[in-house]
Amino acid sequence: MATIADVLNNSPGLQRRLFFLARRFVAGETVANAIDAVAALNAAGLSATVDFLGEDVHAESEAANATQTYLQMLDRMVAAGADCNISVKLSAIGQAFSEDAAFENLRRIIERARPSNTFIRLDMEGSRTVDSTYRILARARAIYEHVGPVVQAYLHRAATDVERCIGLGVRVRLCKGAYKEPPDIALQKMSDIRANYMALAQRLLTSGVYPGIATHDERLIQAVVKYTADHNIANDRFEFQMLYGVRARRQRALRAAGYRMRVYVPFGTHWAGYFYRRLSERRENLLLALRGIFGG
Ligand code: FDA
Repeated sequence: MATIADVLNNSPGLQRRLFFLARRFVAGETVANAIDAVAALNAAGLSATVDFLGEDVHAESEAANATQTYLQMLDRMVAAGADCNISVKLSAIGQAFSEDAAFENLRRIIERARPSNTFIRLDMEGSRTVDSTYRILARARAIYEHVGPVVQAYLHRAATDVERCIGLGVRVRLCKGAYKEPPDIALQKMSDIRANYMALAQRLLTSGVYPGIATHDERLIQAVVKYTADHNIANDRFEFQMLYGVRARRQRALRAAGYRMRVYVPFGTHWAGYFYRRLSERRENLLLALRGIFGG
C-alpha cells in the first residue's frame, strides 16, 4: 500500500504547496535558504552538513539536476567561507537505476569539492543499497580521500562494516538507522540497538578515525561523554551530530561544554520521505511540526 510519503513523492507540485508542514525540519527550498541556515549555525559555533533532499530517483535527468544543485551548493559554500560538509544520498544521483551513473555524478561532485577538500558523506539508505554504497565508496576513495559512509547500528552487519572502515582509515558517521528492516537484517529492540550503538561508538572512538556520533538519544550522548572522559579521548577526536530542528538547545549546550557539533541541514522541495522518517521516529516530532505550522 502506498504511504503518504509515496503519494507526495510522486506529486512534486503538492510537495511544494505543503512545504510549510516540513519547515521545522527542513531549512528551506533553495540553495540560498540552506546557505542562510548554515551561516546561522556557524555563527553559533556549530558546523553543518547539507543534504539536497531527494531519494529513489529513477530518471537520469533528475539525477543530473540533483548533482547540479550539489555543484551550485559547493560554489556558494566556498564563496561564503562556510564550515560545512555535504551529505549525499546516492539514490538521488543515480544509484536506483545505475551504479555507474551514481559514481559518475559523485565524481563530478568530488571534482568540485576537491579545491576546498570539502568532506562528502554518503548517507546510508535501505539495506538493499548498502553493498552498492560501499562499492561506490571504494571507487570514490580511489580518487578522493575526503569521503566516508554512515554505519547504521541496527544492522547485524554493522560491526563488520565498522572494522573494515577502521582498517581503511575511513571516517564513519554512526547512527541507529532510520529505515524499516526485517529481523534477519536488523535488530528490532531499542535496547539492543542502543547497546550495539555504544559498542560500535567505543570501537570507533578508540580507533582514531574521527567518528561522527549522530544521535539525539540522551542516554547515548551521556555514555559517550563519560566514555571519552574516562579514556582521555580529546574533544577534537570526534564530533556529535544532530538533525536540523531537533534538540537545537542541546546542540548549543554541547558546543558550550566544549564538544564539536555538526548539524545536518536538509533543503529542497522533495521533503516527504525525510519528513515521514522523522515523524515515524518520535511522536513529539509531529507536535514540533504542528507547533511550527501554528507559529508556536
Ligand atoms: P531516537 O529517536 O531513537 O530517540 C531516543 C531518545 O533521544 C529519546 O528517548 C529522547 O531521550 C532523545 N530525543 C530524541 N529526539 C528528541 C527531541 N526532539 N527532544 C528531546 N529528546 C529527544 N539514518 C539512516 O538510516 N541513514 C543516515 O544516513 C542517517 N543520517 C543521520 C545523520 C544525522 C546527523 C542524524 C542525527 C541521524 C541520521 N540518521 C540516519 C537517522 C538515525 O538513524 C535515527 O533514525 C535518528 O537519529 C533517531 O534516532 P536517535 O538516536 O537520534 O534518537
